[in-house]
Amino acid sequence: MEKKDMNWSELGFGYIKTDMRYVCNYKDGAWDEGGLTDKATIEMSECACVLQYAQTCFEGLKAYTTADGSIVCFRPDLNAARMADSCRQMKMPVLPEEKFLEAVRQTVTANAAWVPPYGSGATLYLRPFMFGIDSVIGVKPANEYQFRLFATPVGPYFKGGVRPLTLRISDLDRAAPRGTGHIKAGLNYAMSLYNIVDAHEQGYDENVYVDAATRTFIEETGGANIIFVTPEGKLVVPKSDTILPSITRRSLVQVAKDYLGIEVEERPVALSELSSFAECGLCGTAAVISPVGKIVDHGKEVEFAGMGPVIRKLYDTLTGMQMGSIEAPEGWIFKIC
Ligand code: PLP
Ligand code: COI
Repeated sequence: MEKKDMNWSELGFGYIKTDMRYVCNYKDGAWDEGGLTDKATIEMSECACVLQYAQTCFEGLKAYTTADGSIVCFRPDLNAARMADSCRQMKMPVLPEEKFLEAVRQTVTANAAWVPPYGSGATLYLRPFMFGIDSVIGVKPANEYQFRLFATPVGPYFKGGVRPLTLRISDLDRAAPRGTGHIKAGLNYAMSLYNIVDAHEQGYDENVYVDAATRTFIEETGGANIIFVTPEGKLVVPKSDTILPSITRRSLVQVAKDYLGIEVEERPVALSELSSFAECGLCGTAAVISPVGKIVDHGKEVEFAGMGPVIRKLYDTLTGMQMGSIEAPEGWIFKIC
């Protein structure tokens, strides 16, 4: 199969319309058969629940070309499960896991020419999402829903590729205690837009959010979880009920423990501990593991090693598994073709 004629290594993290996407509709209490379409636009009522009350959630995963030329995805079953959690909380119908995986399989297969070649530094980002589509004017959930999954080839999430990032401790909060921080609801991102624009204007790559209740514990950034490494090489991972359970982070914890013999602590991490860490990174599907060079806490600068030895080892092992050069644990690699 011939790949699209693209300068893959120059890609940033943007939307490029690909050939096909998957659509499935929920009406009268049931999902329809679902299938592929080339239509990249959506028509809906001006009063659709998603437009009025932001009833929408999404996922993010990637398709990779491996060293032997296969196309694979990484743990899509966990995206299906997390989307189900998001849907339950947002009073949306759950798309069965088999249907979610079928949407992944069909969309990637139909867009195989868009999956960047092995070694190009780019991947095919998949965006499953669901929204309330029928008219709702009183505050209540929709009756009808649409699930979609589209694909777009992407390069590094942060401009300039893999380089040490500069973050700031945010003055605004992301997630309330007992709120929606642990699910992937669009509303969590809508409220971060003011803050990310402001951060960029002030010269920062991202905002680090702290817990809204006490403002003393580190949570995560707007689009990725955060991880730390102590000078002794121990991996320290913030634990909180108000952060997104990152699939990348959960995988890294297992890789660190079982493959690399790295000690791992998953626990609340106080803001006051920042300067005790040697390395810091952001982890997520889009971020992969992006090294952090500096966090600025209201004028106080804390520096980290950037791509230090532990972050490097985690990065190489995780991406090696995703790209097929290192054997992954049973069930992590979902082969498409
Ligand atoms: N945290 C937030 C707020 C995110 O948007 C993401 C991206 O999905 C993550 C963490 C990382 O999650 P994952 O590793 O499952 O992509
Ligand atoms: C992802 O990593 O898949 C996300 O959804 C993060 C988003 C900020 C692009």
